[in-house]
Amino acid sequence: MNQIFKTHFESIDSTSNYAKANAASLSLPALITADEQTNGRGRRGNSFFSPKNTGLYMTLLTDFPNGCNLITPAAAVSVCEVLEKLGVDPKIKWVNDIFIDKKKVCGILTELFETDSRKFLSVGIGINLTTTDFPDDIPVAGSLSMECDRQILAENIAKNLLQKIHADNIAEEYRKRLFIIGKDISFRKNNILFSATAEDINDECNLIVKYSDGATEALSSGEISIKL
Ligand code: BTN
Repeated sequence: MNQIFKTHFESIDSTSNYAKANAASLSLPALITADEQTNGRGRRGNSFFSPKNTGLYMTLLTDFPNGCNLITPAAAVSVCEVLEKLGVDPKIKWVNDIFIDKKKVCGILTELFETDSRKFLSVGIGINLTTTDFPDDIPVAGSLSMECDRQILAENIAKNLLQKIHADNIAEEYRKRLFIIGKDISFRKNNILFSATAEDINDECNLIVKYSDGATEALSSGEISIKL
């Protein structure tokens, strides 16, 4: 396994912003961690609540891996495997939110970008370890309620993810942790709200949904809602 180049901050706006801004000059793979983020970012322009010393805030930056299109599910599986070794039983909500007991305890932000004609992959991971007092607008958020060495946790996830990026059995590992199969879900497509049943995922980890008229469709991205 190649060396991972680590950078740690007591406080930073966002480890993923730092990775993006410094991609061209960082030695890779780079692991950026912080005790707190003052402007943690989530998907779809959401913020990620990142108070000091209560969560794991990390970004793994690598060169863009050729031949891998399952990075997002690979990241979710990597986090789950490391948490399972700590005795936790995490479940995945498609695409890559990690839940425990109906609460979202981890969010993952995967970004592909290009700087100076070089392509990079950035995977930002936030895990609520002992975080409490979440803002009112994220009622589904919860915590693992677990103290642990955050640096070791970050390194274990980074190592696992670097291996998983090239693994070929991700869909199976991903499927067995998904808790949404067979459930009624809703999602937006072209700003129209649809209801369907989550049937399965395919080998590309696309979500197969079944509409009430029996028609099926594979969703490749997006946000689903589910009654918890
Ligand atoms: C989401 O749930 O929408 C994704 C949240 C990702 C949060 C992590 S915390 C570390 C990294 N830095 C950020 O600003 N965001 C990611």
